[in-house]
Amino acid sequence: MSHGQTPAEQAAQDKRIKLQLSAIKYPVLVMSGKGGVGKSTVAVNLAWSLSQRGFKVGIMDIDIHGPNVPKMLGIDKLSFGGDESRIEPVRVNDNLVAASLGLIGYHPDQAIVWRGPIKIGLIRQFLADVAWGELDYLIIDTPPGTGDESLTIAQTVHNLAGAVVVTTPQEVSVLDSRKSLDFAKKLNVHVLGLVENMSGFVCPCCNTVTHIFSQGGGKKAAEELAVPFAGVIPLEAGVVGAGDSGKAFLSQYQDGPVADAMNRIVDNVLAQIANNEKNGLYQKTTVNPDFRPER
Ligand SMILES: Nc1ncnc2c1ncn2[C@@H]1O[C@H](COP(=O)(O)OP(=O)(O)OP(=O)(O)O)[C@@H](O)[C@H]1O
Ligand SMILES: [Mg+2]
Ligand SMILES: [Zn+2]
Repeated sequence: MSHGQTPAEQAAQDKRIKLQLSAIKYPVLVMSGKGGVGKSTVAVNLAWSLSQRGFKVGIMDIDIHGPNVPKMLGIDKLSFGGDESRIEPVRVNDNLVAASLGLIGYHPDQAIVWRGPIKIGLIRQFLADVAWGELDYLIIDTPPGTGDESLTIAQTVHNLAGAVVVTTPQEVSVLDSRKSLDFAKKLNVHVLGLVENMSGFVCPCCNTVTHIFSQGGGKKAAEELAVPFAGVIPLEAGVVGAGDSGKAFLSQYQDGPVADAMNRIVDNVLAQIANNEKNGLYQKTTVNPDFRPER
């Protein structure tokens, strides 16, 4: 597809994308079968946690229809810097930068219908023209389902380390998440871990986790589908509060059931990446010696 570009323009963009990705060690996709299961929450806290562990991290939000990341990181009032050829990502902390399709001309009260080719073009432009620089991890938050956005990433990001698939106990019971897992399999995207979010409820007075729905569905589904299980996150009011206040949950709470769960999930995802790498399942691209990060 040309996305209105001449073949020469597209070739030049392909080259820029390759060059940029060669400086990003582990791009990671966060996806789900259904909406509202906690993808953006997981993506934001994964990115935050990695940044606190000393890694250089980027978070890229490619949800054009309902971008959550800018709001969750408190950068929704900002716009990008840069010039015609480069887009500066927004700096969240010393180790974390963010860029969101939500920061370019999205109005929450305006339902925009973007056609597939336009979305694909915008995502490619974000990979080509956002000045990501050298990163250890690029966390990519997607809209629900297996649409153009996830497909574009799977087809364009040649060094994708894999996908974290988020689900809920309800979803897992009807296996809606199977669609995302099938998608990953078809496109040769490694599943780094299935996350069961909103599993159990943290009591606000004593921090005890109560399981209202049956427990262990996510783990069982992961076993059945032969994908790694990354862990469960219980429901807690603080998660909503953090998201609404524009702060990553993990920047506000370092311990407690939800923080512990999130940190364990990050450990498991990192272990899975390391394991894939050890087993030759990850084709690491060598950093192009000609690459000069522009910031
Ligand atoms: N463990 C949790 N406990 C309490 N609330 C949660 C939890 N996880 C997510 N939420 C809340 O649920 C809502 C949906 O979460 P989030 O926006 O992360 O989902 P999403 O999958 O990214 O949604 P969308 O499909 O719209 O992009 C948010 O208000 C969020 O704060
Ligand atoms: Mg989201
Ligand atoms: Zn209690």
